[in-house]
Amino acid sequence: MELWEYARLRKTKVMEVIFPLVIFAVLLSSDVAEGRKARVLDYFHYSAMSCRAHSASLTEFGGVGDGITSNTKAFQAAIEHLSLYADVGGSQLYVPPGKWLTGSFNLTSHFTLFLHQDAVLLASQDESEWPVIEPLPSYGRGRDTQGGRFISLIFGTNLTDVVITGDNGTIDGQGEIWWQKFHNGELKYTRPYLIEIMYSENIQISSLTLVNSPSWNVHPIYSSNVLVQGITILAPVRSPNTDGINPDSCTNIRIEDCYIVSGDDCVAVKSGWDEYGIAFGMPTKQLVIRRLTCISPTSAVIALGSEMSGGIEDVRAEDILAIDSESGVRIKTGVGRGGYVKNIYVKGFTMKTMKWAFWMTGNYGSHADNNYDPNAFPVIQNINYRDMIAENVTMAARLEGIAGDTFTGICVSNVTIELATMSKKVPWTCTDVAGISSGVVPEPCDLLPDQGPEMAACNFPEDSLPIDNVQIQTCFYRRKHL
Ligand SMILES: *[C@@H]1O[C@H](CO)[C@@H](O)[C@H](O)[C@H]1NC(C)=O
Ligand SMILES: *[C@@H]1O[C@H](CO)[C@@H](O)[C@H](O)[C@H]1NC(C)=O
Ligand SMILES: *[C@@H]1O[C@H](CO)[C@@H](O)[C@H](O)[C@H]1NC(C)=O
Ligand SMILES: *[C@@H]1O[C@H](CO)[C@@H](O)[C@H](O)[C@H]1NC(C)=O
Ligand SMILES: *[C@@H]1O[C@H](CO)[C@@H](O)[C@H](O)[C@H]1NC(C)=O
Repeated sequence: MELWEYARLRKTKVMEVIFPLVIFAVLLSSDVAEGRKARVLDYFHYSAMSCRAHSASLTEFGGVGDGITSNTKAFQAAIEHLSLYADVGGSQLYVPPGKWLTGSFNLTSHFTLFLHQDAVLLASQDESEWPVIEPLPSYGRGRDTQGGRFISLIFGTNLTDVVITGDNGTIDGQGEIWWQKFHNGELKYTRPYLIEIMYSENIQISSLTLVNSPSWNVHPIYSSNVLVQGITILAPVRSPNTDGINPDSCTNIRIEDCYIVSGDDCVAVKSGWDEYGIAFGMPTKQLVIRRLTCISPTSAVIALGSEMSGGIEDVRAEDILAIDSESGVRIKTGVGRGGYVKNIYVKGFTMKTMKWAFWMTGNYGSHADNNYDPNAFPVIQNINYRDMIAENVTMAARLEGIAGDTFTGICVSNVTIELATMSKKVPWTCTDVAGISSGVVPEPCDLLPDQGPEMAACNFPEDSLPIDNVQIQTCFYRRKHL
């Protein structure tokens, strides 16, 4: 071997050994420098339907978390920029600790909004921060006023694959001013919601706390494949229309592990209003609700309606805890609504201090306008309640169908309702309903005759729905800046 050749070989060998070592050392030192804080502060993992290739923090777009500066433009700029990554692995926007005052902003597809546990989105109280949009086609008008409505704080339409999550970060609607305007009749448009997603699919809303919404909290509408998980919703029990989660004309939805204390229904299942809902004709179906804790002294734990004109079917609710609520499950409808509520299954429901365990209202009224069809009778059919315990209940059930439009196929089994000392003398009142019962205390009304212990339990489907098979992954976010 020539000397020069030996030298070249040696050099190569040396480089082969040294080079990786150098790289390793560089990696090691940068890891140590960043790593000390990284482990504590800079590194998050969370569960989501999909993970993202690109990340940014709100501060990279001029966000200021002082609770005073408006971040509306920062959010809009960040999401507009991140929307460019939709086709190359998607993106996530990180909201760091701080109080981030903001007006409404729109989401994009293949996108995750992640709120740190000490991040608070503060909804602006300045109406100019809330664009006004058209009424929902299935409602024909705003719910508070005729005509338009203030867009929701976090809004998305015609999207796919969107995750709104955090490690229990907070969205504060600062609703007080809106509630006052509502009570004083000073609203120009319908109040905004906190989160509304329209015409979209593959949506996850999870691990967040929502407080003091101006009106409804979470409103998925005209959407499918929606997962709502681990959401805490808090609002004063006297605040107007602060419904928790309202799936509306949606298919394949799963709501689980939520805790809701609010001034209206904890979950209200909907599908449009009178002639507008009938014409739009989009039902809510394949809905799973499980492990819900609800406190709703003025409303229902789970309401079906009152806007149900597109139909509601295949709702499965189980493992529900209700405390100090007006009613457990409530069907709200009326002549003019049309549509249907059918194939409803509820089991494993514990209730403590209730006015009514069960309530069906066939004369709810509350019409969008006077053009509703007086011949549009709703069909209420195949409603199953089983395995329930209730205590301190004023009245077991108040079931009021519609004359000439009997609510049929009502089944109640294995239900024990302990009445309060100040309870009504007649624990069940039933009109225009038909069904059966077994193992129910106190004994139901004559329209739900007891079939004796041989009767099979009321139905609850054994199969699972597609939303139960959604794959959840562990995703990471690594902060670049402190
Ligand atoms: C968000 O989307 C709605 C509906 O498409 C639109 O009216 C509104 O102007 C958008 N907001 C912004 C800030 O672009
Ligand atoms: C969103 O989707 C709906 C229903 O498919 C459609 O009518 C509407 O035009 C779409 N809107 C936009 C902004 O693409
Ligand atoms: C999230 O925060 C709320 C409000 O502080 C709290 O009540 C709830 O227990 C928290 N949830 C989790 C999972 O830590
Ligand atoms: C009756 O319901 C209770 C819950 O309230 C449940 O623990 C029990 O297993 C049910 N009994 C039957 C026979 O299903
Ligand atoms: C029973 O309900 C009444 C209200 O109807 C309430 O004032 C009382 O505290 C409740 N009792 C218990 C033991 O929860």
